Amino acid sequence: MNVILYGPPGVGKGTQAVLLCQRRGYKHLSTGELLRAAIRSYTPLGQQIKDIVRAGRLVSDETVTELVRSEVRSSPPLTQFLFDGYPRTLIQVDHLDAILDESQVGSLIAFAIFLDQEEIVRRLSGRYQCRECGTVFNIYSKAPRREDTCDECGGVLARRADDVPEVIRERMRVYQELTSPVMEAYRSRGILHEIEGVGTPQEIHERILGKLESIEAAGG
Ligand code: AP5
Ligand code: MG
Repeated sequence: MNVILYGPPGVGKGTQAVLLCQRRGYKHLSTGELLRAAIRSYTPLGQQIKDIVRAGRLVSDETVTELVRSEVRSSPPLTQFLFDGYPRTLIQVDHLDAILDESQVGSLIAFAIFLDQEEIVRRLSGRYQCRECGTVFNIYSKAPRREDTCDECGGVLARRADDVPEVIRERMRVYQELTSPVMEAYRSRGILHEIEGVGTPQEIHERILGKLESIEAAGG
């Protein structure tokens, strides 16, 4: 079974993705991380999408779907994926269906994490990420041992270019307009499960895991 983590910017999708992948062996497929890696490496794709990502708007459906398709195609058979930040539009929902069909990688389950806006903004305002290995920190909840330095690899920590107030507002607006309908699409298929996003990362992880295990025990 493949998993989609769904929810507004800063709700904790990436944090939960790392915990679930460690526990369950999924391949973490974050379109945001793939796009930021392209920007960091100055690839032609990175040059093309840099301004869009920095403005908090969505990259074209075709571009992100191509990234996802090539990741899925190049993965070993029987890989189970955790999609983080994809699909984000109704067109991407159709694209993902087609990718899953053609690769025969199995069924889908979606978890939507909910949290109030005030806490989301607080989490985003405290986020730092390692430029080298991508590990995410937070000055309020997961501070690095040494300021500006990654605990994992010693790399330099930096704010994300899209974590500034006006871009956060735009990401929230885009989420409401284009991504909320995705949740409704999965709800109407009966595969969307809501998760309360309050608590420590470990508490939220246990919530998701508990739900996942009870669905699997009931036969999917
Ligand atoms: P993307 O990278 O997907 O960003 P996002 O959806 O805005 O979500 P974030 O990564 O900001 O937040 P998160 O939910 O992962 O939270 P995190 O775990 O880091 O997309 C970025 C951009 O790329 C888009 O705007 C768009 O331009 C483009 N893009 C990406 N996918 C696309 C697509 N499919 N189509 C088109 N364009 C696309 O947590 C946030 C902070 O809170 C961290 O510091 C963390 O340590 C902390 N934290 C987490 N959990 C807790 C907790 N329980 N308690 C306290 N602190 C916590
Ligand atoms: Mg993320």
